[in-house]
This record gives sequence, structure tokens and C-alpha cells, in this order.
Amino acid sequence: MLSQVLRSKVAVGQSRYLSTAAVNRSKVAVLGAAGGIGQPLSLLLKHSPLITDLSLFDVSPMTPGVAVDLSHMETRCRVKGFGGPDKLKEALQGMELVIIPAGVPRKPGMSRDDLFNVNASIVRDLAKACAEVCPKAIIGIISNPVNSTVPIAAEILKKAGVFDPRKLFGVTTLDIVRANTFIAELKGLDPSNVNCPVIGAHAGITIIPLISQCKPKVEFTEAQLKPLTARIQEAGTEVVKAKAGAGSATLSMAYAGARFALAVLRGMKGEQGVVECAYVKSDVTEVPYFSTPIVLGPNGVEKNLGLGKLSIYEEGLVKAAIPELKKNIQKGEKFANQ
Ligand SMILES: NC(=O)c1ccc[n+]([C@@H]2O[C@H](COP(=O)([O-])OP(=O)(O)OC[C@H]3O[C@@H](n4cnc5c(N)ncnc54)[C@H](O)[C@@H]3O)[C@@H](O)[C@H]2O)c1
Repeated sequence: MLSQVLRSKVAVGQSRYLSTAAVNRSKVAVLGAAGGIGQPLSLLLKHSPLITDLSLFDVSPMTPGVAVDLSHMETRCRVKGFGGPDKLKEALQGMELVIIPAGVPRKPGMSRDDLFNVNASIVRDLAKACAEVCPKAIIGIISNPVNSTVPIAAEILKKAGVFDPRKLFGVTTLDIVRANTFIAELKGLDPSNVNCPVIGAHAGITIIPLISQCKPKVEFTEAQLKPLTARIQEAGTEVVKAKAGAGSATLSMAYAGARFALAVLRGMKGEQGVVECAYVKSDVTEVPYFSTPIVLGPNGVEKNLGLGKLSIYEEGLVKAAIPELKKNIQKGEKFANQ
């Protein structure tokens, strides 16, 4: 059943999610694999024919159990579980793609930045281990605040002399997934046929949907555009409130994380024209990290497609986001260099 769902997604979704094309296979690690995002993300990755080896790491001692559970699925991908901090380096051996959802999620009333104190050091330590054990791996960071955790990881990789700006990503895919879904709801479209770029970064006003560039083309009045933009920017909070203290988005994030990871793998294996928006080192604006549509290739970022043509409304959103994003980036860099 699941395989049918995923295959039909390929048919209607321009292979944006899962490709069954015969390509070389890959070794992927999930750090934070026993968590709310980590477990369903690992399930979706175990289901993919693109991955040969899945390495699941978490400080939680239940991680080997998660791996044993997944290993019974009738797919060819091998799964190994590593529980406890002393197993981290073993878990990273030979990895080509590392996805990081480790860290605490929000509770009602918290901003993503409120997670900084706990998650900054988690991402710092995981990035250090990647720099040492798998320095050529592509890294995708889900842990919030993404606006700051990506600059932290970059500084750590730079200090180790292994920073390759093509290979470090902040995973913002959930914002695109949400934008597609909400636009489809309003216009009566099939969400899997909607593709709306979301640029900037991943918190509040730094999340900038480019509805003027949506495919298919959709028209909204200004009175409709403002609440739609606000809903996309605050969609994470919608989930945090609905879960009433039990965490933030996990299942939709697992879906988005898998969509991102599989797109990176398809690019790595030479598939042409694979594009995802992601938060990367960038010279597109005055801030050093910015999310835009990225062509993915064998080494990660192949080409940054930039902002494209913005409406006046969207220009205003970018202008409003820059000072906030600048602060988030500086906070991360300062932490990593202290
Ligand atoms: N980028 C996005 O769009 C997005 C969306 C939703 C959530 N998030 C973020 O993802 C993170 C995880 O969310 P969750 O709901 O899965 O949380 P969770 O608490 O359910 O799971 C986090 C897991 O990380 C593990 N962990 C903690 N420290 C670790 C370390 N040093 N090494 C390895 N694993 C460690 C925990 O044991 C736990 O299993 C949060 O920071 C959340 O804010 C990001």
C-alpha cells in the first residue's frame, strides 16, 4: 500500500519525492533517529530504493531497537542502529549523506530561537563528528533554529578545514510542502501538482513564499495574499498549538525531510534538473545564508537559481526578513566561534 502511494506520488509529482530509476545506491545517516521526526523519516528512507545503507544514530538507547524494527521491512536497504554518544563516530563511517533532526522541539509559546541554547551545542558536536569521520558527506540540518544551526555547522566545518558550501543545507522543504498544500486548498487544485518556491529561511517572517512564481500560476487579491503568507509563515506554530505541548511537526516534517534527502541523492547520482529550495551559503542577498531554489548535482549545490522575478509585495517580505536573518546568522556564528 505504502509503495503504491509513494509510486503514484512519482507519477503525479514529477518524481519530486521518490524515484525508482536504476541508479547507484547510497549510504545515509540520520542523527536523532529515535525522535518524533527521526523515526518516520527513517521509515521513509528505508523504503527508498535509492539507499543501500541506513545508519541510525541517537543518544537514546532505543535506537538499535528502531533499526531492528525497520530492518524487518522487505526492502533491500540495510539498517543499523547506534544508541548512545560513544557510538556516533561508528555510525558516521562511510556516510555520503547525513540528515540531522537531533534536538528539542518547540512547546506552545516558544519561538524556534528559544531552542538555541539546547540545540546549538547538539548541532555543533554532530558537525564536529561529521568533519572528522565523513568530511565529504552532504549534510542536511533539520534541527531548529535552522537559521542559526546551519551557520554553526559551517563555522565548525571551516575550523576543521573541510567546509564545502555546496554540501551544507538547512532543510526548509516543509515550508514548500505547506505552501503547496494551502494554495491547493484555496484554489481547489491537486496539491501534488502545485509547486510554490519558498525562499529566505525557516522562522516567522524569514519564511517567504513566492506565490507570484507558483506553478501552475495562481492569482490572489492582496486581501487574500496577506493571510495566506501569514499562514505559511506560522504553519509550524499551528501544529505546535494543536499538539498542545507534545512537540512540533514530526510526520509532515519526516515527509519533507525524505523528499529533500531523496532529491539530494538523485542529484548526487547525476539525475538532471533536480531542484529544491534550501537554506545554503549564498551571495544572492546581503546575508551570507539564504534559501532559494537550488539545482542539485553530484556535489550538492550545482547551481543557485536565485530569487527570480519578485512582485512588489514579495520584495517587501525579503526586505523585512533580512535584518532578522542577519541577527540569527550572527548569533550562530558567534556561538560557534566563542
Ligand atoms: N526544519 C524544519 O522544518 C523542522 C520542522 C519540525 C521540527 N524541526 C526541528 O527538528 C528537531 C527535532 O524535532 P523532533 O520533534 O523530532 O524532536 P524529538 O524530541 O521527538 O526528537 C529529537 C531526538 O533527538 C535526539 N537527540 C538529542 N540530542 C542528541 C544528540 N546529541 N545526538 C543525537 N540525537 C540527539 C533525542 O534523543 C530525540 O530522539 C527540533 O529541533 C525541531 O524544532 C525542524
